[in-house]
Amino acid sequence: MQVSIVGSGYVGTTIAACFADLGHEVVNIDIDEDIVETINSGTPPIHEDGLPELVGKHAGQDGTGRLRATTDYDSIFATDATFLCLPTPQADDGSIDLSVMETGATQLGKTLEATEDWHTVVVKSTVIPGTTEDVITPILEEESEKTAGEHFGVGMNPEFLREGTAVHDFLNPDKIVLGADDDRALADMHDIFEPLVTKSDAPVVEPDTRTAEMIKYANNSFLAAKVSLINDIGNICKEYGIDAYEVADAIGLDDRISEQFLRSGVGWGGSCFGKDVAAISAAAREREYDPAMLRAAVEVNDRQPNRLLSLMDDHVDVSGERVAVLGLAFKPGTDDIRNSRAIPVIEGLQERNADIVAYDPVAAENMRERYPNISYASNPAAVLDGAAAALIVTDWEEITELDAEFDAMTTPVVIDGRRAIDRRDGIVYEGLTW
Ligand code: UDX
Repeated sequence: MQVSIVGSGYVGTTIAACFADLGHEVVNIDIDEDIVETINSGTPPIHEDGLPELVGKHAGQDGTGRLRATTDYDSIFATDATFLCLPTPQADDGSIDLSVMETGATQLGKTLEATEDWHTVVVKSTVIPGTTEDVITPILEEESEKTAGEHFGVGMNPEFLREGTAVHDFLNPDKIVLGADDDRALADMHDIFEPLVTKSDAPVVEPDTRTAEMIKYANNSFLAAKVSLINDIGNICKEYGIDAYEVADAIGLDDRISEQFLRSGVGWGGSCFGKDVAAISAAAREREYDPAMLRAAVEVNDRQPNRLLSLMDDHVDVSGERVAVLGLAFKPGTDDIRNSRAIPVIEGLQERNADIVAYDPVAAENMRERYPNISYASNPAAVLDGAAAALIVTDWEEITELDAEFDAMTTPVVIDGRRAIDRRDGIVYEGLTW
């Protein structure tokens, strides 16, 4: 099939490269000429494992030519379907900001007006239930002066990609959700995903678009709430001196619970959990429903960094003292600091007038933009030298391997927020939930 992808962020670029690898002819449309040039040189504009190989193989000089990037929306004429992979950021009140999606849909509608051929538009971005049917489709109809279902199709296909493993997750899905409000759009999506369904044998779910939108929010809300639940239970374990990980290993044997997402600690970060839970919660409250469990999931998550700092306070007064922050990215394997738990930890140390020095193998420069006035060390040993306390926030391998380096601390108080290291003689060790 001929597929166009609007947007070259971590979702757009990943699915463009993966669709090309599945045998489709793909055009990736973006307004940023630098991004377009980067992709056409065979290089991905974002960091994701496996993406350099795929973009090089399909867009590079000697590649298959099945992937090309452009700023020209008219390129969709040569394609059968267009995926909208545009940002849906969080507004100040937590609700979803659809302005970029609306602009993209308007541009797409204007383009559709100029063709007589059938075309299917697929919403890929995470949007609250009803957006495809009540916002995107009316824009497409108004701008194209055509009728959805008659002149063009509309679908909704949510993604479940984790940062750092997006290529793997796309090519090894646990489900493929093909939301559609007309049969022809569904048929087109089946044709596009057929190579992946054959390759992965993943189950295909065929709801209407608003149900597809809700499946995405339910998926992320459940994962965020599961982490907060094991953190809530972990906090109780800590009060009893019980190891929450021993409890988690046991309950994970119940296949209704599973062992996934039971790692208690300093909590979840990233650009999705917080944004998605806030957006669906705001949408629920607009409909006079109070999502108490989702509110609690956020409340427990917000507690965890303060619990880490309180455990430190129990052992050392850090005012005027050097404190090491080990790990800044929201999880290992990425340089992304969005909603990282290191942010409230740094804020708390600033309130304690600590002399903060931080280490992260890849995310330090991103955090320096946010906090230029704290120190950054180039390796974990340097960050510990002379420190009165060390807080472990991200379990990078470089951090899990630390041991003798802690002996260079002035008072070896180590508060572990990720079960990154083992307690041992010579350090005053506290695990957040163990
Ligand atoms: C998540 C969803 O997993 C993905 O399906 C969706 O499409 C986007 O959001 P991502 O945010 O990239 O992906 O990371 P994920 O690996 O899910 O971890 C999210 C956060 O939860 C991280 O901060 C991680 O440290 C934390 N986490 C995860 C825990 O604290 N404990 C766990 O057991 C698992």
